[in-house]
Amino acid sequence: MRELVPNRVWCFEQLHGVWYVAVPIRMTVVKVEEGLLLYAPLPPTAELLLGLRALEAQHGPVLSIVLATSSGLEHKVPLASLARACPAATVWVSDQQWSFPVPLPSRWLGFPAGRTKVLFRDGLPHQDQLVWIPLGPINLGLGTFHEIACVDLCTGTLLVTDALVAISATPPPIFDLDPTPLLFHGREKGSEAIIDTPEQRLKGWKRIVLFANFFRPESLSIPSFPDLVIDAMTADEANPRNHFALFPFRWAPSWEEHADQLITHGPQVAPCRLAPVLERLVFVRAKATYLEWLRTLAKQMTIKSLISAHYSAPQLLTSVDIETYADSLEATDWAPSDGSWQLLAAIDRALLRLKIVPSKSESC
Ligand SMILES: [Fe+2]
Repeated sequence: MRELVPNRVWCFEQLHGVWYVAVPIRMTVVKVEEGLLLYAPLPPTAELLLGLRALEAQHGPVLSIVLATSSGLEHKVPLASLARACPAATVWVSDQQWSFPVPLPSRWLGFPAGRTKVLFRDGLPHQDQLVWIPLGPINLGLGTFHEIACVDLCTGTLLVTDALVAISATPPPIFDLDPTPLLFHGREKGSEAIIDTPEQRLKGWKRIVLFANFFRPESLSIPSFPDLVIDAMTADEANPRNHFALFPFRWAPSWEEHADQLITHGPQVAPCRLAPVLERLVFVRAKATYLEWLRTLAKQMTIKSLISAHYSAPQLLTSVDIETYADSLEATDWAPSDGSWQLLAAIDRALLRLKIVPSKSESC
């Protein structure tokens, strides 16, 4: 738990991922006049509840829990248990919630009956203090992508779930608790010892950013199985922490340059971006919808910072930055298929071929 704006905005963070490809997943707490609002649910672990109860004791009860995405499974799954932990709170969800492979009613997904409301259709929480800005819905075939951003007028904080992120050049502070994911990926081979240095942490972070955004970046190759085993057998240590010295990744020298292109705190046009996986698989045929949302956000002159549910937060951000980012997207290729984008493009082509996603997926 971190306090991001004194006495007004806090966040809880957990690590989310597999095989040490872990990025922060974040729930933001905003103090509204009557109590607290939770944006982007997290699983209510004992540790999380301890922090949340301390905030409630000081700032009032949790009044509203907001699931502002229709498709983000990692945010949808914890909603039921978090709602049970806050039985007096009203639960707000974005419209057109869906489940796969069987379409289930919201109650079966654990959304509490009698206190779950749909954003916009049933009103909006704390409208005098918060501005709500919808993105989509976009037809994904199996369901929709629909996300609602929120601006806290008091602090100028822009809350976003997945559609806009800031990726810092240095690892987020949650890795200070256990830097193993960074150190694991900071190596060149499985036989290399896991050593904690600032350089190894930085390398690990940038490689995790590449994995999380592209799944298989172009600067990555996979060694043959015999090479993998021979390398593991030469390691001084083999234990669960180093995955028994198995490390099926080889990085070409260009990897860092590719990672730096994703970092939003570097020489980029704006300190925020749309994650490539969303650009290539969700907004691939809905650029106009995304740009329209950015331009609507940019009209909120009070925006001072961005807190999204992944990567780094808070990030200083103004409405001018958002407008600049929209202009830059307008002028560049959208959802490319070359370089590191190849795997994402192949997934999209396969989904189109199987008719799982529609060939036109602008707002539905
Ligand atoms: Fe997410």
